[in-house]
Amino acid sequence: MKNILITGGAGFIGSNLALKLIEKGYKITVLDNLSKQIHGDNPEITSTLYRSIKDKVTFIEGTVTSREDWKKALENQNIIVHFAAETGTGQSMYCIEKYTEVNIKGTAIMLDLLANNKYSVEKVIIASSRSIYGEGKYEHPKLGIVYPSHRNEKNMLEGDFEVRYKDSEILKLLPTDEESKIHPSSVYGITKQNQEQMVMTVCPTLGISPVSFRYQNVYGPGQSLSNPYTGILSIFSTQIRNNNGIQIFEDGKETRDFVFIDDVVDATVRGIEKEEANGNIFNVGTGVATDVLTVANSLISAYKIDVAVTITGKFRLGDIRHNYADLTKISSLLGFEPKVLFADGIKKFSSWVLEQEIQEDKLTKSLEEMKMKGLLK
Ligand SMILES: NC(=O)c1ccc[n+]([C@@H]2O[C@H](COP(=O)([O-])OP(=O)(O)OC[C@H]3O[C@@H](n4cnc5c(N)ncnc54)[C@H](O)[C@@H]3O)[C@@H](O)[C@H]2O)c1
Repeated sequence: MKNILITGGAGFIGSNLALKLIEKGYKITVLDNLSKQIHGDNPEITSTLYRSIKDKVTFIEGTVTSREDWKKALENQNIIVHFAAETGTGQSMYCIEKYTEVNIKGTAIMLDLLANNKYSVEKVIIASSRSIYGEGKYEHPKLGIVYPSHRNEKNMLEGDFEVRYKDSEILKLLPTDEESKIHPSSVYGITKQNQEQMVMTVCPTLGISPVSFRYQNVYGPGQSLSNPYTGILSIFSTQIRNNNGIQIFEDGKETRDFVFIDDVVDATVRGIEKEEANGNIFNVGTGVATDVLTVANSLISAYKIDVAVTITGKFRLGDIRHNYADLTKISSLLGFEPKVLFADGIKKFSSWVLEQEIQEDKLTKSLEEMKMKGLLK
């Protein structure tokens, strides 16, 4: 069986993928710096994700920003799954150097080593993101398909959050397919675009097959309940269990395509194993848009804790309004169909959350940071 390196393999998607691949007989190496934001101060105790894999993989504690750490990790690998990244959209708008250093430079070092040395790597899988589509794809009543740019701050301050075209026409939301315009509206999205483009451009010149997955919003057991910068289901869960009210941005009607972790692992394993994946970019989602208010209410009923839900009308610069995936390509080339409906996934997720210790609610602090930087309106 092949040797697979998963960078960021102690994280949410990486650890779940590692466990599935081990079950299938692959030999897994993980390169991960056990970032405190994800794993807490003492990962041996504070990170269930890390503990779930540490004795089953060859674990290298190191950073993708170090050439030396990459060198240790790349030896004898057949496949690289490059997941290590800074992942908070809002945080990326003020930690710009850090996000570009880890996400872009980290990927650049990997490719530089592959380009200038002899390794046994045949395939590189890169984690891209739906965030690269920015505001996504819409139908204009007269112009047909359009890709609107960032929403107008003045409209949003007046409580008008819907995406409009230049002429202010209200638009019909469509799912984004892989040919949709790439125009991210956050630094995080820019780094994901950049990672994807570098991998898709450089790998073929080295005889390595690249595969990119543009994941939608991934959720499920194991996702960090203490990181206030990303993962809306976790953030709401921690607020509810602390008996804190939920403050919803915009008008609560903003939507995301929430895809369950098992489906994401399934899609990624297909990308690793199937030749049809080689050289291709795939959306991974459910093809269904769910609004944020529904998410909050579903979690409140799952935990049976009655907290107040406030629609604040506030908004974060860099956030998009809606996005959901067109899955035609991954379905036809890789035979992938999401199996977990949101209603079932949220039950599995909330049952797992109830078995976990209640984490400190750090959201207020993270929002204060954004407010101070002028990014929360
Ligand atoms: N979770 C989602 O909804 C989602 C959606 C789209 C794309 N993605 C992408 O998928 C990948 C995995 O996401 P995730 O949800 O598992 O994130 P995660 O934060 O749970 O895991 C990321 C892992 O990378 C590690 N890491 C961070 N900086 C590092 C560095 N400098 N060197 C080595 N390791 C480092 C962290 O310790 C963590 O274990 C990321 O690239 C992310 O951008 C995730």
